[in-house]
Amino acid sequence: MADARPFHWEFHPEPVVREVFRVEGGRPLSGTVPISGAKNAALKLLAAATLTGERCRLTNVPEIEDVRAMTETLRDLGVVVDHPADNVYEIASGDVEWLFVPLEAAARMRASFILLGPLLSRFGRVIISNPGGDRIGRRPVDLHVDAMRALGASIEYRNGYYFATAPGRLRGGEVRFPFVSVMGTENAMLAATLAEGHTVIRPAAQEPEVDDLIAFLQQMGAEVERTFPDTIEVEGRKRLRGADHRVIPDRIEAGTFVIAAAVTGGRIRLEGAPCEHLGSFIDTMGRVGVGVSCGKDTIDVDGTAIGSSGYRACDVETAPYPGLATDLQPPTAVLLTQATGVSRVHEAIFEDRLEWLSEVRRMGANVEVLDPHHATISGPNHLLGTEVEIGDLRAGASLILAALAAQGTTTIHGAHHVHRGYENIERKFLDLGASISRTAEGAAVTNS
Ligand code: UD1
Repeated sequence: MADARPFHWEFHPEPVVREVFRVEGGRPLSGTVPISGAKNAALKLLAAATLTGERCRLTNVPEIEDVRAMTETLRDLGVVVDHPADNVYEIASGDVEWLFVPLEAAARMRASFILLGPLLSRFGRVIISNPGGDRIGRRPVDLHVDAMRALGASIEYRNGYYFATAPGRLRGGEVRFPFVSVMGTENAMLAATLAEGHTVIRPAAQEPEVDDLIAFLQQMGAEVERTFPDTIEVEGRKRLRGADHRVIPDRIEAGTFVIAAAVTGGRIRLEGAPCEHLGSFIDTMGRVGVGVSCGKDTIDVDGTAIGSSGYRACDVETAPYPGLATDLQPPTAVLLTQATGVSRVHEAIFEDRLEWLSEVRRMGANVEVLDPHHATISGPNHLLGTEVEIGDLRAGASLILAALAAQGTTTIHGAHHVHRGYENIERKFLDLGASISRTAEGAAVTNS
């Protein structure tokens, strides 16, 4: 490991290729759709691979922009990342030469902050950009930073960067979070695997992606275990070894396709779908009246009630796992525009996840946002195609769902956001009989 390059970084944000989706709505979807590997697991597994100099192999990694961003960030650090086949990545972090995660990486993807724990723990120092930039409060990482300090790190914040050091090794300790944080839990756990002594993390997030990370770390030789539902304990090891791991399926992508069948009155089968990770969501579907049945590795969705008995309004509230995932709140809100009666939506985790509803309102949804955490939806609404703009990943997928449910053509600007987290989304919808195309902004329309 060398640190020869001076501390200097010029910020050249990558030009984003502006793309639009065009969706011709009103067609019931039918057929089978394969579910990809989970984004929120894959990103952390890639980061975890830097805890060892030995080679790690990950399969079922989704081919999405966030994975590309993470692998590029790793390569910039000097990590060797091979991509021998689709969905397969091999990572060798023997010769990490550059313990600096620049603003460019953080600007592309907030999850780059997950590199704090592993790099600090293995190499004793790292300089990492604050993914929130100046927008403090909006995307805080204070829980991550406090967790590292609880493990003995010194962290200073200057000019948008955290300068973290841990001479010698981190020390195991008590990491107490004021509330549950998924990546906060993961960062603490990654750091603790190479710390000296015992660490207790509480309350620890219970998301399936956290358990997937635990399984991978165990394969790497880490002593890490969930000892109670909300508690993770780690006994630090001096070194970890390489490991092979298959990424769990993406429950958020699965939920998105469940809603796609539901709002188009279609019938589809999800293959490789994680029914066991979707309990609260499937309960919600049952209350609304969407037919969902789970097989061993499949989920069958029957949305035909939309045309017969109709769907029922339903109050929903997001919560940490095993509650209803905040990432499935926007798709669920689209479903509720098709339900009879007044539904109340309580977004309890984030304060900016209802903003996108202004776009679906432009399509004819009767939505009222009461405050950053509460909205009402009075349905059923006859949605009509129009021009809408995607602001972020989950809003993007949900606007596609609204467009599939709408009459006429919807032009959805900002399509690149969706590719951050959904693998081949338009191909998958095309295979289910949707009419959707993606073109560069301003290009001639070719319908497919
Ligand atoms: C992860 C997921 C994201 C999901 C979210 C909640 C990844 C890459 N992303 O995000 O898709 O929507 O869990 O399930 O896995 N908070 C603080 N300080 C912190 C960290 C978080 O105040 O240092 C707050 C957040 O603003 C939020 C709450 O804690 O209100 C929970 O966020 P958290 O669980 O940390 O979300 P992420 O791990 O960032």
